[in-house]
Amino acid sequence: MTPRLTRPSKPPLIKFPPQPVGTAHGSMLRGMAAPHPNPHSHPHSHPHAPDPHHDPSHRQTPGSSPAAGSHNLTGLTTDLHGKLDYAGYLSLEQLLSAQRPLSRPEHHDELLFIIQHQTTELWFKLVIHELRAAIGLIRQDKLEPSFKILARVKHIQAQLLDQWSVLATLTPTEYIQFRHVLGPASGVQSHQNRLIEFLMGNKDRRMLAVFQHKPVIHAELTAALEGPSIYDEFLRFLSRRGLPVPKDVLERDVTQPHEAHPGVLAVFKQVYENVHQWWDAYEMAEKLIDIDESYSLWRFRHMRVVQRVIGFKRGTGGTAGVPYLKQLIENVFFPELWDVRTSIGA
Ligand code: HEM
Repeated sequence: MTPRLTRPSKPPLIKFPPQPVGTAHGSMLRGMAAPHPNPHSHPHSHPHAPDPHHDPSHRQTPGSSPAAGSHNLTGLTTDLHGKLDYAGYLSLEQLLSAQRPLSRPEHHDELLFIIQHQTTELWFKLVIHELRAAIGLIRQDKLEPSFKILARVKHIQAQLLDQWSVLATLTPTEYIQFRHVLGPASGVQSHQNRLIEFLMGNKDRRMLAVFQHKPVIHAELTAALEGPSIYDEFLRFLSRRGLPVPKDVLERDVTQPHEAHPGVLAVFKQVYENVHQWWDAYEMAEKLIDIDESYSLWRFRHMRVVQRVIGFKRGTGGTAGVPYLKQLIENVFFPELWDVRTSIGA
């Protein structure tokens, strides 16, 4: 006989009255019945211990799935008046009111477009936070803790890469119906993307021009342009460790992108061919190439999603669009870490 899904015969522990659509600080849980069973009515039980008489999951037929709503809510905190709650801690009111589609009447798919960009920007924020921490650690010769940080960056990048498939559900027919609301707004004006590029070493002063109207951001990007990248710091570290990093590389103009240098390639050849002697340098090199590779995959996926959505139309930011994005795919941040693959054993 097929086991029947049983519903709890007693009323559930907590009643959920119909709730008005609340504000973020609103009344999701307000008005709930007190969750704590009266300890005096069960003198032998601990007030927070699960009470088999009140726990509907105990009445589940063996082998069946628990019925919806049958989970044990004993101990749930419901009186949050004047206390820090989830929404307050996370500033959800601000976060969830920051999606403001501009199409009129509002186009169904504009929300997807906005959220995809916003979630990417949130992850960018964390990437910047982590990269800055890693740069600081390398500067202090603390490679070990920076490995964990860079592993985290790699996992964030995996999220960002995976996320493109959500936006890829936006068809050209849908996008064309609200694209006009963007005006000249474009991802090329993402200051966080530019900051990541600069921290990773892809320096280009010309890109500051699109931030002239934002003096604080312009200043932050200028500082990053004029500061050493994570690769500059790593090469300085290798030099401090006694590896023969060329002087002109160590003293280079850091506002320019790093260019592949035979002396740096020779250093990495030494590291990769003697990994036991240079284990930490070797591990760092592999962490950096992880990030470099993930970055180019992200750029590739962006280009392809753009192509399937707008074809070869020009970008809203004014560039040629897909041809502009295509040329970026070839960029690598750490050229010698790629070149060393060819030289090993040669
Ligand atoms: C249908 C969706 C998208 C389209 C059609 C699109 C299109 C474009 C185009 C054409 C460019 C070149 C600049 C221009 O002329 O506008 C660009 C740049 C860029 N986009 Fe997107 N994009 C889309 C989604 C996204 C998303 C979700 C992000 C995530 C934040 C993003 C981030 C960027 C960044 C960072 C750049 C600058 C690349 C660089 O210069 O390094 N894009 N996009």
